[in-house]
Amino acid sequence: MNKRILVTAALPYANGPLHLGHIRSTYLPADIYARFQRLIGNDVLYICATDEHGTPIVAGAEKEGKTPQEFVDYYHERDEREFGQLGFSFDIFHRSSSEENKKMTQHFFEKLKENGHIYEQEVAALYCEKCRRFLPDRFVIGTCPNCSSEGQYSDYCDSCSKSLKTGEILHPKCITCKTTPVTKISKHYFFRLGSFSAKLEKWLTTNPYLQKEVANYLLNWIREGLADWDISRDLSWGVPVPGEKEKVFYVWFDAPIEYISGTVAHTKKWEEYWKGESEITHFIGKDIIYHHFLFWPAMLEGTQDGFRAPDKIAVRGYLNLEGKKFSKSRGWFVSLDDYLSAFPADYLRYYQTSTTPHSVTDADFVWKEFAAKINNELVASLGNLIHRTLVLLQKLNNSTVPSPEGLEADDNTLLAKITSTKEEMEKSMLSFQFKDAQEKLMALSDDFNKYLSSKQPWKEKDKKKINNCLYVCTRGISAFAVLLQPFLPFTSEKLAGMVGLGEKKLLWKDADAELLLPGVKIEKFEPLFKKIEDEKIREMENKLGK
Ligand code: MSP
Ligand code: ZN
Repeated sequence: MNKRILVTAALPYANGPLHLGHIRSTYLPADIYARFQRLIGNDVLYICATDEHGTPIVAGAEKEGKTPQEFVDYYHERDEREFGQLGFSFDIFHRSSSEENKKMTQHFFEKLKENGHIYEQEVAALYCEKCRRFLPDRFVIGTCPNCSSEGQYSDYCDSCSKSLKTGEILHPKCITCKTTPVTKISKHYFFRLGSFSAKLEKWLTTNPYLQKEVANYLLNWIREGLADWDISRDLSWGVPVPGEKEKVFYVWFDAPIEYISGTVAHTKKWEEYWKGESEITHFIGKDIIYHHFLFWPAMLEGTQDGFRAPDKIAVRGYLNLEGKKFSKSRGWFVSLDDYLSAFPADYLRYYQTSTTPHSVTDADFVWKEFAAKINNELVASLGNLIHRTLVLLQKLNNSTVPSPEGLEADDNTLLAKITSTKEEMEKSMLSFQFKDAQEKLMALSDDFNKYLSSKQPWKEKDKKKINNCLYVCTRGISAFAVLLQPFLPFTSEKLAGMVGLGEKKLLWKDADAELLLPGVKIEKFEPLFKKIEDEKIREMENKLGK
């Protein structure tokens, strides 16, 4: 029976270009998983959206002289296009500013309030009397109390890297009109996160799918006591708080709800995925653990509306770039756009999967390592194997898949290896170990290369032996066309097309079947991968920090 699988990837903020880090922890692993689950016949929904609220978006828009709407429209469209170029197979790429999300967020709030999980409290905040608005941290600049550097944001000094608490900054000024703000009292809504401690603790200790390293870290937080959570902001951009003027929900309140709202926008059967029998799986980077493991399950539970806690949350570590953090302002940055204008999408998919275990360990993107991986593995092993096989088929058997006859032990061993690789990969895939799965696939490619080198069909005199060897290798080709799909979708499609399997839906279970029947002709083909030249890599390295 097929299972219902809901896969989500954390929503990218619509306030800047996507970079390689986003891909590593979140969108690529989620895509690999969604594609794999579809290939084994499950009913999959892969949901994502842009995260379009919050003060950084309002600030970003003001800086560019745009309205917040124009600003997020631009990034929504751009993110969707770039994700598409990387082959991400979302069933829907939605927006947190949608009508569906406004309705669902307000519904969550009403339910939480009804169930006693929300209270009101007055909070002192900075207010600009000239602009007539409350000023979030990013809207106040002043002098750092630590290093006396001027023109710093009120929550962080870029000069001495000190985080500042509200009220600490000296000589605060409104960023827009430079007026000195006054302190004003404002009513805020708080979510009683603390009262969910016991439930969260139980979920963290009993859910077998959560990563131990992550659960332990969270249990410590819970034991130290969870503070209640201010879910409202005095701002006009966001989901309006019902019954209030100029108050919206904090962006982290409406953002995860958009996982549901995106499902609502996609299918009338959304409740089957969120309340019925299904496997809810979130993919996130390690910086947003708190929100997904504490706030979000508590919000779902607190509605008492049939929503289940997430079943699985796959957390992965951060990506640095050549030893330093990604920083757009310092030019230490490779946007998706920069990458895609230089190299094929599948090369990035391959390299990032090969450096990303299912853990919170960070990794480094290094251009030279990238080139070495592609050249030594994709080009030298897999690409070479497939090209060699097709050339030999052309030379030795008129481009035709031969019939096997009396296969020998080493032929059968290799055919059996396809089956065992498929099965082992499947286990790795189900437990989010995509790096291991890809390594198993590449080990199979190495085995085929060794087999071909030891068989030497180009020197063989016995036609039966030549045919058997070529036959076994074509079984390898079709196996790769199937098994590559979750990892390198563009390559697998190209390969399948080349060998005449392009029209067929290639299911995972058929990886070890005889998909290329004896008698089939494979006449037109070209190398799947191209070597990356050193010069190209130097060019990419030289762009950094400029
Ligand atoms: N909008 C929030 C998520 C809301 S989910 C309800 C957000 N957006 S983000 O654009 O900052 O990040 C999107 C995803 O990319 C997150 O999973 C985040 O962890 C991940 N990463 C952002 N920078 C990253 C690296 N440098 N390295 C690895 N992952 C990174 O957070
Ligand atoms: Zn002002």
